Amino acid sequence: MSHEFDPGYNRNPFSKLCRQYPGADVYPVEDFRVEWGPIFHRGRLDGSARIVVIGQDPAAHESIARRILVGEAGQRVQGLLWKLGFERNYVMVNTFLYSVYGQGGGERHKDDPAIAEYRNKWLDALVLNGHVEAVISLGGLADHAFNAWLATPNGKTADVAYQTVRHPTYPERASASGQLTKAEAMADMLETWNHALRALHKVIDHPDVDRPIHAYGASLLDTDVFEIPERDMPAGTPDWMRSIKSWGRRTGTDANDKRATVEVKVPTQFRTWE
Ligand code: URA
Repeated sequence: MSHEFDPGYNRNPFSKLCRQYPGADVYPVEDFRVEWGPIFHRGRLDGSARIVVIGQDPAAHESIARRILVGEAGQRVQGLLWKLGFERNYVMVNTFLYSVYGQGGGERHKDDPAIAEYRNKWLDALVLNGHVEAVISLGGLADHAFNAWLATPNGKTADVAYQTVRHPTYPERASASGQLTKAEAMADMLETWNHALRALHKVIDHPDVDRPIHAYGASLLDTDVFEIPERDMPAGTPDWMRSIKSWGRRTGTDANDKRATVEVKVPTQFRTWE
């Protein structure tokens, strides 16, 4: 059996961007989990991408998989891409290279010039590849980042359709504050996803697969969530790291210990030896 994999950062400008990533001098350790390293992207870097997704910041699964949007959030986004007809020709980048630590770090640093400058180089390379037809941002910080890029000289030359939607973990975060139930927050999120779906479906000329709109209902169905394709992951990544089963979480006896630990467990269904 032959396996596909992401060949990584073997071409410019991406190899140069990876050599020159900003560290703790740009991303302060009080507000970012710099100790887990930068996590750059997921998807096509060979110029074939027709849609760019801008996420927020990596979480526990991404710290291990070394690709962004591979956990629950990414699997929801994978479903949105499928509904738009994209199974291969997409690429994703986050607003922040490192996971935000604690409250408010994202807001505090959203306009930091060195953070924006580096992110804008990625957006220059990804959005202005001559093929991209649409951009979707996930959540307010990603929307802010894309609009800031659009205001740059390179951004001003972009000719792409754009939609912003609620972040894929909005239902969990919004319901944690107790103001909304998770079901209400999910329905709110999916309304924004349907809006983007309808708007972009009309203007995307070259999806990978031309399929009619399958709009979301008020709740997310199992069939709306997709595993991460093998071709998006580094060579040799085990199947369970792409599956819709959770396999990584931060654990620890206190805040410092928790910051230092990601527990990785093979999900039960994948324990072929048992
Ligand atoms: N993981 C990411 O890489 N980005 C997000 O926005 C959320 C989870």
